[in-house]
Amino acid sequence: MPKRQSTVFLLLCTASTCCEGDILLLLDSSGSVSNYEFVRMLCFAAHLLRPFSLGCGFIRVGLLQVGTNPVLEFGLDVHNNQDSLQKALQSVSQLQGDTNTKAALEVAQQLLTEENIPKILLWLTDGVQPGDVDESMSELKQQGVSVLIVSMAHGNFDVLQRVVTPPLESHLYSVDIDDIDLITEDLREAILKIIHVGRLRAVHLTSHSAVLLWCPVLSAGSGCYELWYNVMSMADSETRRTLPGNSSMIKLINLQPDTTYTAFLHPKSNQRLFNTLSVNFTTLPGENVLSPVVVSVSDSGPHQIRVSWCPLQPAQVQSYIVEYGAIPSGRVQTVMLPSQENSRLLTGLDPGTEYLVTVSALYVTGEQKAISVRACTQEATLSCIPPPNLEASGSYF
Ligand SMILES: *[C@@H]1O[C@H](CO)[C@@H](O)[C@H](O)[C@H]1NC(C)=O
Ligand SMILES: *[C@@H]1O[C@H](CO)[C@@H](O)[C@H](O)[C@H]1NC(C)=O
Repeated sequence: MPKRQSTVFLLLCTASTCCEGDILLLLDSSGSVSNYEFVRMLCFAAHLLRPFSLGCGFIRVGLLQVGTNPVLEFGLDVHNNQDSLQKALQSVSQLQGDTNTKAALEVAQQLLTEENIPKILLWLTDGVQPGDVDESMSELKQQGVSVLIVSMAHGNFDVLQRVVTPPLESHLYSVDIDDIDLITEDLREAILKIIHVGRLRAVHLTSHSAVLLWCPVLSAGSGCYELWYNVMSMADSETRRTLPGNSSMIKLINLQPDTTYTAFLHPKSNQRLFNTLSVNFTTLPGENVLSPVVVSVSDSGPHQIRVSWCPLQPAQVQSYIVEYGAIPSGRVQTVMLPSQENSRLLTGLDPGTEYLVTVSALYVTGEQKAISVRACTQEATLSCIPPPNLEASGSYF
């Protein structure tokens, strides 16, 4: 079987879209909550979550209702844009019945299982008779879930204090329903703090380099990042760098092939305390990087796109294969090219359409390596906008 390494670089990435995490709303929908309170809680949740980018790789939001029996209104995979989430939050109807929170928490345990990403259970409750939730809540916390609570202040504050994830000041709110909007900013800030703890990721590994990516938590003026890395088995081989506060990626070079490194990143700010992030990664074996390393797109017109790649390695590469098709479901066309070619004009395309273009090198050894880029053809109408010139190597996700 030929080995196929495929790397899809998404070309767009902004600060607000670089967070990842799961948020499950646990909404008290029982008969003790008045309809007025219920509607206000839903509006509050909608407003709270409005700024987040949703979907896989970003923030996922689910809604679980607490009643006599729990009802999963929508799971974490359902809404991947704000319009659909906001609409769904407007059309939730109240269950009435008992407050069987314990049964709902058993469902929550099944949902919040994704490893290595921040997970939040946001419990919106009137505070009346929460039931025997201590054990289920501590199991959830052992699963790595942060429990945040907003209570309508009618009742049992002791239980809430026991089960919330510290610190209480920013994770447990007890408010009158008419004042609930006053806490939106603080609660959102607390959520951001949890999901921003995030991850340090190592991508685009070669035998001599690696790119580290992280969620930006500082800005240009508000601090800097301390970065250090070493061969995992040799702590004294450490290399240290200081990076400006507006950075969110760095390419490490001069690494050794087939070696496991460990890297640490510490955001330094005098306004806030941040955790140190770390990642382990292993460089690729061998002396040579495998082509293609860079795939770029140019000469885009309404019916054509030119795709180019490098480096050329005619001694090792047998041929190149270019596959392209409209996203999401167009027919995929395939062109085979000799190993001396490093560019191809793709013609007969539809205007104003996004294509996924994959360039694969077929090696004499039988191995295969591929890189994909997304590119748009121009609209058919005449326009003065210069053709986009997208460089896959310039933007990593
Ligand atoms: C960070 O800020 C500096 C100075 O303001 C600027 O030159 C640089 O391009 C910025 N870097 C990024 C990645 O935005
Ligand atoms: C890296 O590996 C070390 C040793 O196996 C381990 O203790 C550490 O938790 C790992 N770090 C990460 C971020 O996975």
